Amino acid sequence: MKKIIAFLAFAFALNIADAKTLVAYYSRTGNTATVAKMISDALNADIFEIKTADENWYPSEYQATTEQAQQEIRDGKFPPINAAPDMSEYDTVFVGTPIWWGTVSGPVHTFLTTVDLSGKTVIPFNTHAGSGRGNVHTDIATLTPNSDHKTGIAIVGSDADNAADSVNAWLREIGALK
Ligand SMILES: Cc1cc2nc3c(=O)[nH]c(=O)nc-3n(C[C@H](O)[C@H](O)[C@H](O)COP(=O)(O)O)c2cc1C
Repeated sequence: MKKIIAFLAFAFALNIADAKTLVAYYSRTGNTATVAKMISDALNADIFEIKTADENWYPSEYQATTEQAQQEIRDGKFPPINAAPDMSEYDTVFVGTPIWWGTVSGPVHTFLTTVDLSGKTVIPFNTHAGSGRGNVHTDIATLTPNSDHKTGIAIVGSDADNAADSVNAWLREIGALK
């Protein structure tokens, strides 16, 4: 009996040691990328940049991009993206996006609907130009119904470079950083 308990404790410890965190994000102009890097640096976590499969999917002009993104939301059609890493390694996935029209950016919508995050803990973060989190965090939860969720953070995009203290405080609050 003692041997069985010792074995189970060992297997459990191994499993904990193997549990890994991924920070997956999309960023068009670098703000969300800055926050993603802060999180991955603080937690020593892997990082994955979500990109459109076609690098010219969105126009370079801001206004034209907003119009295209609005049309995609109306049509419910979002861009193909690059291949995600093997998700079986990860038990926690931070998902970062700029807020677009109050919700997740198109590439992150594709990520959430094509990558299986079931059974994992999903933690949202976003940058914005005034809307805060808008519907981003609730939409991420809705799009990953079989995941657990923790409280996310919203950072003003133009403040991203100075957000390390807020990001670290939030990571401590949700128990990700000791
Ligand atoms: C298509 C599009 C839609 C946007 N919609 C919003 C919005 O609804 N609310 C807001 O506060 N900012 C909005 N923004 C601004 C971005 O969310 C903000 O600048 C963000 O920090 C950009 O992050 P990035 O540099 O990682 O791309 C929008 C930007 C784009 C390109």
